Amino acid sequence: MTSYKELGLVNTREMFAKAIAGGYAIPAFNFNTLEQMQAIVQAAVETKSPVIMQVSKGARNYANGTILRYMAQGAVEYAKELGCKNPQIVLHLDHGDTFELCKDCIDNGFSSVMIDGSSLPYEENIALTKKVVEYAHQFDVTVEAELGVLAGVEDEVASEVSHYTKPEEVVDFSTRSGCDSLAISIGTSHGAYKFTPEQCTRDPKTGRLVPPPLAFDILHEIEKRLPGFPIVLHGSSSVPQEEVDTINAHGGKLPDAVGIPEEQLREASKSAVCKINIDSDSRLAMTAAIRKHFDEKPGDFDPRQYLKPARENMKKMYIHKIVEVLGSNNKL
Ligand code: G3H
Ligand code: 13P
Ligand code: ZN
Repeated sequence: MTSYKELGLVNTREMFAKAIAGGYAIPAFNFNTLEQMQAIVQAAVETKSPVIMQVSKGARNYANGTILRYMAQGAVEYAKELGCKNPQIVLHLDHGDTFELCKDCIDNGFSSVMIDGSSLPYEENIALTKKVVEYAHQFDVTVEAELGVLAGVEDEVASEVSHYTKPEEVVDFSTRSGCDSLAISIGTSHGAYKFTPEQCTRDPKTGRLVPPPLAFDILHEIEKRLPGFPIVLHGSSSVPQEEVDTINAHGGKLPDAVGIPEEQLREASKSAVCKINIDSDSRLAMTAAIRKHFDEKPGDFDPRQYLKPARENMKKMYIHKIVEVLGSNNKL
């Protein structure tokens, strides 16, 4: 058993309480690689922001759970080396799908886990979440649950339609499961294609797709029923059009990729939404920089030559999210 406390990590409890009171949201950035980790830590330290570094089941398979855990411990030490006296870094399991996976993470240094029972029938979701909560709370690990289904791909569970969270269920669900935070479905979705062109309108000036608005009425109804309770938004990448354009201009093919407009995430950050998940935007920033580099410097073959601009581009994106969208800067 390795407690996250030995690694210098923190859980989400105090972080979320402060974020709700302060009207901002904590960035939850997925990571799989060294360069993502470095960019996340540099961005968090430079902006004085708390940060959630999250690992999916796919990331564990790709990078190895043990390595990722040491990377998170390394992240804390790296933040201190960069001059941050009191880094607030959470190591979080994203979309855990079984009790066993959550337990393994809790036993191995994670300070927060998500148990995603959103594809299960309601009572089974409660039972599974409760089982994880009972185990996690013995070690002061916080637990995120999910109610409602996002459209797109929830890891291996593909869902073509989104089922918005039903506000009338949230009090019963959170009370009986004991979860510490709740991911809800109000129209966000995973990946770089969040909406089909048919679901969008087109901006007549730019020809760009304009997605339908998030269901803020549902969010506000949930806030009313669960005052002060931490709410999480998954699938919150904005799919920056300049990154998509760079990718497409350098041999990529991402037609009609579209995300959640930043002004809507800015608005959500001021509410009880205190954790906003971003993965695809980091993938796009990395891919855009690498494609551009290969196009402009076809003779380069040392990975450091193209991973350095990729890391810089991700860092710029992380800083932008923290300062311009979520408002979690200057909170340490
Ligand atoms: O919600 C999904 C995250 O973007 C993680 O994606 O399962 O491909 O690592 P992944
Ligand atoms: P995006 O695909 O919008 O980045 O969402 C990531 C996410 O929700 C991770 O759990
Ligand atoms: Zn997600």
